[in-house]
Amino acid sequence: MEQSPFFSLSTPLETVEFEFQPKSFSDYCGQKELKEKLSIYVQAAKMRNEPLDHLLLFGPPGLGKTTLATIMAQVMQVAIRVCSGPTLERTGDLVAILSSLGERDILFIDEIHRVPAAVEEILYTAMEQFYVDVIIGQGAGAKSIRIPLQPFTLIGATTKAGMISAPLRSRFGITERFDFYSTSDLTDIVLQNALHTKVSISSDAACSIARAARGTPRVAKKLFRRVRDVAQVENKDEITSSVVTRAFSFLGVDENGLMKLDHRLLDIIANHFGGGPVGIETLASMLGEDAQTLEDVYEPFLLRQGLLEKTPRGRQIPRSVLANQLHI
Ligand SMILES: Nc1ncnc2c1ncn2[C@@H]1O[C@H](COP(=O)(O)OP(=O)(O)O)[C@@H](O)[C@H]1O
Ligand SMILES: [Mg+2]
Repeated sequence: MEQSPFFSLSTPLETVEFEFQPKSFSDYCGQKELKEKLSIYVQAAKMRNEPLDHLLLFGPPGLGKTTLATIMAQVMQVAIRVCSGPTLERTGDLVAILSSLGERDILFIDEIHRVPAAVEEILYTAMEQFYVDVIIGQGAGAKSIRIPLQPFTLIGATTKAGMISAPLRSRFGITERFDFYSTSDLTDIVLQNALHTKVSISSDAACSIARAARGTPRVAKKLFRRVRDVAQVENKDEITSSVVTRAFSFLGVDENGLMKLDHRLLDIIANHFGGGPVGIETLASMLGEDAQTLEDVYEPFLLRQGLLEKTPRGRQIPRSVLANQLHI
């Protein structure tokens, strides 16, 4: 991979210490309407002493789905269990988790579209009637045992709403789609991270980072951390626009957030395939990147920017972009 080893969109850096994580709705920047709606649902559920309705969150990675789930647990004042679809391999694993939940607790299942079908079926009665039926033994001696559960809330997150089966989807009372953030909200996120890590930054510099953040809080935070590194090594007390410019050129990120891999992807389609269409697998092998990562992490932003189009025969660059040779 030709990308800078210091900066990859697909590398999770969220475990780094000394980093700020929003813990309440007021820390959670932007998403005004979503926060208002959820506050009402939370308040109503609390007044009725009931669990919050099951909630399905979907949208590209890094937009704050996991963070929102943890905030929901804080505001509901309940515990949260976090797991991921692909790790729920056996029905027994899910049953064990479900039966350990306390009243009104939250179960967060990330990548819920990757829960195996047999395990997914367990969720149906669990979500609707708060019990699961488990088969014990085999053959003629097999017995079905009903295990009651505490009333709980399932929060599911996915980057692929289309891959959730209709029976599962219909059991979520609330479905929310995440969209890319505005530059102004991302600027707030950069300033918030600077404040909490005690770093001084000019508002221009914060805005430049926000503009290059691909509409994504996770990217804004990563860029901020890398720019902060440059400021530190250069012994600068404040992150200014010129520090940002130097850091971006070092990272291979342009002012619109396009990275070397994006440029190479567009270049391959434009110059090797006459603008496309070209299959995602071909692109992935030419780029030395995994097709799933291209699709989940890189593409949504390029599609959104109108630099790329998806067709049944593969990816292509819109004619108007090709004609203008924009960003290629
Ligand atoms: N609205 C927001 N305000 C402030 N920070 C946010 C917001 N949304 C996400 N973040 C930050 O961005 C990072 C990625 O968010 P995350 O919840 O992991 O995204 P997702 O689960 O959708 O992939 C986290 O470190 C989180 O703190
Ligand atoms: Mg997540």
